[in-house]
Amino acid sequence: MKYSLGLILVLLNINTIYGQKINVKREFKFAEEQVNYMLSEIERADVKPGQVSPRTFENGKLKLVVSKDWTSGFFPGVLWYLYEYTGDAKWLTQAKKFTAKLEKEQFNKGTHDLGFMIYCSYGNGFRLTKDENYKEVIIQAAKSLSTRFSPQTGVIRSWDHHKDVWQFPVIIDNMMNLELLFEATKLTGDSSFYKIAVTHANNTIKNHFRSDNSSYHVVDYNPENGSVNKKMTHQGYADESAWARGQAWALYGFTLCFRETGNRAYLNQANKIASFILNHPNLPKDLVPYWDFNAPGIPAEPRDASAAAIIASALYELAGYSNSDMYKKKAGTILRSLSKGYHSPAKKNGGFILIHSTGHKPAKSEIDVPLAYADYYYLEALLRSNRK
Ligand code: GLY
Repeated sequence: MKYSLGLILVLLNINTIYGQKINVKREFKFAEEQVNYMLSEIERADVKPGQVSPRTFENGKLKLVVSKDWTSGFFPGVLWYLYEYTGDAKWLTQAKKFTAKLEKEQFNKGTHDLGFMIYCSYGNGFRLTKDENYKEVIIQAAKSLSTRFSPQTGVIRSWDHHKDVWQFPVIIDNMMNLELLFEATKLTGDSSFYKIAVTHANNTIKNHFRSDNSSYHVVDYNPENGSVNKKMTHQGYADESAWARGQAWALYGFTLCFRETGNRAYLNQANKIASFILNHPNLPKDLVPYWDFNAPGIPAEPRDASAAAIIASALYELAGYSNSDMYKKKAGTILRSLSKGYHSPAKKNGGFILIHSTGHKPAKSEIDVPLAYADYYYLEALLRSNRK
């Protein structure tokens, strides 16, 4: 069989585009430069007392949050990932410093977000250093989070705000906080944390998903008997729409539940969510979703790079539980897209790595901005891509 030189060149070219591996070394080098710059920007920023972690760069300003903000753990987590990749003691020092600023949150019983706050910071810290003090903080945080579980509803209460809107709200994001509970059972041998996590996950499968395998954002439970009052959105376009980051949290959450339990119902759920995301007609070719899969102005709607980074990280893990390399390829495409069209220019955007994320569009907040959690899951996905 004869091939023309032209055809061979076309085939080789396609292979370099689709087979190209993400350059992890170059990405981490850029991340180090940006975070170095961010550390100097923190020194120069108008930091109010109690503000500990950068969350976003909005209206020309680096914005930091107090330790009780749900995003406070991501910057320490970014520092831990830089230390993990480089082994550089400088990042260890910074990671320890920014992690310590969150210590009091281990006693916070007012939010479900302790998983994000404590596991991304102290969880990574313990994984990488085995520091016993970190272990104690993780266990205490899991105890605090467990107080939000109700045996009547069989789920962990997400929010205490907007008591006029709902009675016992549970958001799909809450799946992410289960990792802290699984870890606490491993550290203590006390299975009560594990039992809370699986009960929450089982009820989430039962109540949070539509027949197309997309997830509602909020499910409001009757606190007396656990029946469902209503299903709705808070950060998405509409009650019946598929808010992109919610789908990302769901994918990541059920993948980690399978890792921690071996229960194939969770793997099945994760595969169904991946299929919803990856086959959605509104998912752009670069696989970086619009902020909501049903946003009315698509294609003139903001993207959410944070959702893409979370999805990429989850897909790398899910690829390890699958016989096909499809998930790994999709995750690779996402990372290449993020590294090309979603990078901040050097020494801009307060030192964040990625731009073009959307925090809360209905509240007109954090639209098309950098977000700390986009950077955190981007680095995590890069590390995972390196492992497999
Ligand atoms: N967990 C809140 C958010 O994803 O915006």
